[in-house]
Amino acid sequence: MEERIRNYGADILNHETYATLATYMQHGNVSVMEHSMRVAETGLRIADWMKKYNINCHERELVRGALLHDYFLYDWHETTLKYSIKNGFHGFTHARTALKNASRDYELNEIERDIIVKHMFPLNLTAVPGCREAWIVTMADKYCSLMETLTMRNGMNKRRRKRNFRNV
Ligand SMILES: [Fe+2]
Ligand SMILES: [Fe+2]
Repeated sequence: MEERIRNYGADILNHETYATLATYMQHGNVSVMEHSMRVAETGLRIADWMKKYNINCHERELVRGALLHDYFLYDWHETTLKYSIKNGFHGFTHARTALKNASRDYELNEIERDIIVKHMFPLNLTAVPGCREAWIVTMADKYCSLMETLTMRNGMNKRRRKRNFRNV
């Protein structure tokens, strides 16, 4: 799985700007890079499962789109109420920002662009995924985000329990 991701996304993963994704946090202590890798891996798992039913998809594009879907390159936690004059409401605007940044740094085809700019459906109701690969990444992203958020809550609860214990 990881080998396929490294093969398809070699130019992305070796790019110096991509390394900065490790410094931006997505959910809790999960960086944007870790989140994106996880979405790519989950996307491939879905694609492998679909193959059993003779439903095939463009794996290369799936992986590359997943790796770049959150390539917005700023810390979204630093914006007040998740809103900033420059970036607007993060949830609504970051897919377009990611596409702009990714188009500047990498050679992208139509499927990859569709994956990146449509991945926030249904929050962005006007950006409906236009291909199978974009639907897969949209679902993989929701699943990974939920799991990361639940794990984060777990971590917070554990810390809170420890703190309360110390106060007794
Ligand atoms: Fe996103
Ligand atoms: Fe994401």
